[in-house]
Amino acid sequence: MVAERRVAFVGSIFIRGGRTLTGTVEAAGAKNSALKLLAAALLAPGRSRIANVPDISDVATMIEVVRGLGAVVDSDADSVSVDATRLSSAEAPYEVVSRMRASIAVLGPLVARLGRARVAMPGGCNIGSRKVDMHISGLESLGVEFAFEHGYIEATAPPGGLVGAHIMLEFPSVGATENLLMASVLASGTTVIDNAAREPEIVDLAEFLAAMGARVTGAGTSTIEVEGVEALAPAEHRVVGDRVECGTYLVAGALTGGPVTVRGVSPSHLEMVLLKLEQAGCEVRATDDAITVSRNGPLRATDVQTLPYPGFPTDMQPQFMVLMTLADGDSVITENVFENRFMFADELVRMGADIRIEGHHALVKGTPGLSGAPVRSTDLRAGAALVLAGLVADGRTEVGEVHHILRGYEGFVEKLASLGADIESTAAPEC
Ligand code: EPZ
Repeated sequence: MVAERRVAFVGSIFIRGGRTLTGTVEAAGAKNSALKLLAAALLAPGRSRIANVPDISDVATMIEVVRGLGAVVDSDADSVSVDATRLSSAEAPYEVVSRMRASIAVLGPLVARLGRARVAMPGGCNIGSRKVDMHISGLESLGVEFAFEHGYIEATAPPGGLVGAHIMLEFPSVGATENLLMASVLASGTTVIDNAAREPEIVDLAEFLAAMGARVTGAGTSTIEVEGVEALAPAEHRVVGDRVECGTYLVAGALTGGPVTVRGVSPSHLEMVLLKLEQAGCEVRATDDAITVSRNGPLRATDVQTLPYPGFPTDMQPQFMVLMTLADGDSVITENVFENRFMFADELVRMGADIRIEGHHALVKGTPGLSGAPVRSTDLRAGAALVLAGLVADGRTEVGEVHHILRGYEGFVEKLASLGADIESTAAPEC
């Protein structure tokens, strides 16, 4: 059941290391697509239905944002319907945006549909400043005027509506590409987004927009072209499988030996991750929608650098670093996407890892083993990576601040337990 109300969880996850994980888990729908699809539903009057929505607290937060704008939202087992016929507000308040910066995804749909938006400026987070300058400058190209006051972004479309433009992104920002895509579908004329992000979640969004009547070509490439239309209609869509959740469980198989199989994600969505797992000494077998990873021999030191898709995903960097702490030899992990995504390395060092940070590079010296310890999640993927470390650490590991993990991993503890992990959680709703 997709939770409609966000529950703030507190507590820890406890893992006793040493088990070999084997078996099959099903990936949920991609968090980083589902959140934007809920925002895109605002573009059309009527009731859209989105299936395969993960039951995670970030989705509950986005439901809160969309409801706050006046949409009627219902959810059942794994789908969410959004009726955006009547929108009574154009404001995404600080209280919500400060909790989840992805709320900025309503900016494009609101200026396109209502001609205005008031969205709290998203703050930074533990992995970086998370600026939105490319969102703003791209929307300005479409005619949007901005004012910034009291921590809010005030956006106003031209009286005649948005006007298509040729936009060149300085960096293939996922969020900026999505906001510009969602704004341009209702602009008059043609919009070209050059140096666009190519992630599978962008393709998923473009497919939903096309189902609503938008005219989008090139999604998944660096150049997306949009022919604006007068209006869109509601549609149904199924969220693409979560490639990062999938990769996280595959690393659990690589760490403990496996074989671990993850269903529901196309191998083509995480080719670089699979290549790096093979280079690290794993055996990878894939069909159209299932991937299996196992390992018999030692882990090999393997360098990785994170890059925009189809490069190695930054969201898999912490998980891969855990793997390299146990490899034979020294690895260099370079983080090119976020400026501060090594914070969790200090927690791994507390578990016995040998990691030295030099700017954007983490120098990881393989050690024979990790030892269980109390550690804390600094962000979603770091928290998941520390749980993975606990799977192979000697003794007991407690990963605190579990709310970070529950934002983006549906049934994380249950899925790992189903693979044989000795894991439990004291996560409980904050009273
Ligand atoms: C999305 O964040 C994902 N989040 C992130 O996943 C993911 O790591 C990231 O894309 C890269 O793949 C969601 O989709 C909700 P960006 P986003 O805009 O859109 C800078 C997770 O763990 N930048 O591609 O914020 C920015 O600071 C999360 O699931 C600007 O400078 O990523 C960052 O350094 C973490 N100005 C880099 O670009 C801008 O206007 C990439 O950001 C926009 C971005």
